[in-house]
Amino acid sequence: MSFFVTLEGPEGGGKTSQAKYLADALTQADFDVLLTREPGGTEISDQIRNVLMAIENTSMDPSTEFLLFSASRAQLVRAIIRPHLDNGGVVVSDRYFHSSWAYQGYGHRLDLNALRQITDFATDGLSPDLILLLDLPVEIGLQRRLSGGSWNRLDAYEKQFHQRVREGYRTMAEANTEDWVMFDASEPSDAVREQILNIVLRRLSQD
Ligand code: TYD
Repeated sequence: MSFFVTLEGPEGGGKTSQAKYLADALTQADFDVLLTREPGGTEISDQIRNVLMAIENTSMDPSTEFLLFSASRAQLVRAIIRPHLDNGGVVVSDRYFHSSWAYQGYGHRLDLNALRQITDFATDGLSPDLILLLDLPVEIGLQRRLSGGSWNRLDAYEKQFHQRVREGYRTMAEANTEDWVMFDASEPSDAVREQILNIVLRRLSQD
């Protein structure tokens, strides 16, 4: 039985380690799990990621950003995600298209309807079965990023931008409480880890 779950949220919410914990726990529970991340996840997508993250690309327009994220995603879906789901596996992805809607749509105010159409084309209509939103206040998230030392071009946008991103995520989650589950990522990560695993296992047993 295939299942596609994504982790989303603003900077510093611990998505990457939570995605890894979740993938490991599901593997131990005997699911055939593939862990991936965006932007990246294939060799071609990693090359696109390097262009997106390069600190010198300060003049990149948000529409270029969106199209590069979408191009990277198109490759990841067709080369990795779709084949694994077609084999009946579970895919855990650290970010997916809702990141583009939150950052380029809500954050940079690109037209959400246009983004939806391009996303539909890029992903061949593949939506996640479950979206886990690791929500936390912008100040805490950016502080964690700074002390973590992996600062990139996109982290450097102004604070109001990150605020719009957070609000955008919350708006999407509140509009569709069936597919989205929101967690308080300012809590200790082991508490969040348990909550995530319980919800995913419950959803897997329902499907
Ligand atoms: P990364 O260092 O992988 O960060 P994180 O640990 O926060 O996931 O950087 C990914 C950055 O790219 C992050 O700032 C969010 C941004 N992003 C977008 O703006 N749009 C997108 O579609 C995706 C996938 C990521």
